[in-house]
Amino acid sequence: MCCRDLLPYNLVEGQDVTVKINKSTVDDVNWKTMIQKGEIAGRPLVYFSETDSTNCRAMERGKSGSPAGTVVLAESQTEGKGRLGRFWLSPVGSGLYFSVILRPALEPGDLSKITLVAGVALCRTVRDLYHIMPAIKWPNDLLIDKRKCGGILVEANLHNLSSPLIILGIGINITTPLEYFPKELQEKVTSLQPHVDGTILRSELLTNILFQLDTIIKQFEQQGFEDILKEWNNYDATLGKNLTWITSDRTVVQGVSLGPDSEGRLHIKSRDGRIHEVISGDIQLKTG
Ligand code: BTN
Repeated sequence: MCCRDLLPYNLVEGQDVTVKINKSTVDDVNWKTMIQKGEIAGRPLVYFSETDSTNCRAMERGKSGSPAGTVVLAESQTEGKGRLGRFWLSPVGSGLYFSVILRPALEPGDLSKITLVAGVALCRTVRDLYHIMPAIKWPNDLLIDKRKCGGILVEANLHNLSSPLIILGIGINITTPLEYFPKELQEKVTSLQPHVDGTILRSELLTNILFQLDTIIKQFEQQGFEDILKEWNNYDATLGKNLTWITSDRTVVQGVSLGPDSEGRLHIKSRDGRIHEVISGDIQLKTG
């Protein structure tokens, strides 16, 4: 009997090792249909069974003129990118990994807020579809029960400032086994499925995220950031909490989160009483 028939696991032959790959998400008819048609919710869908990074593929297509709304989806990624140059684990059949091409009608100064805006779209989706309350760790971590189960990576090509090209990449762990993650992350990550009653259908999750993204980006373009920020604050995992901020030059600052301001910058009050307006770097919360 061929090992590949032994679902839920596929066996992939490496050079000198056999890697066990989880294949435990459930794919419904819609998943296959949308891939075959190359279309999802009325927009172009580009599908890869495997690629390096959907963000890279989407950026490539965006630069060569693919329309706003195009979705680039992969079953697995070999070089999935996370924020701050990190690796995004993307094993086959375990998660949702996709990027959307955006050409938003926004001022350049507003583009940095897209990560927070997309975070609200993700939270709305998870709340409405699965009736659980997610949280966001500034700026881009989707948390369930204080553990990370998804992330957002926004990349921009600003050569044409009147029509900026934005790639919005989203990764969600759905059934990713904990042992796939490095030991030091295993206490900090989770997958969506164990927190949800009933089986997660990736086509349904993806379609709903796309709907919420469309809705909130229109809201952002037409009404600005104020109400979205208020909604973001309902999901804030760090407000009033002690945290560590590791700056881009690796300086470590201990402080308390005061939440993001109207520009999306996180305010941190450090122990010496100073208020820092954070635009980058890593925020670490104590777990447990
Ligand atoms: C993070 O939390 O650091 C961001 C993770 C973003 C991962 C997604 S998976 C789909 C898209 N393609 C990538 O290479 N990265 C994003």
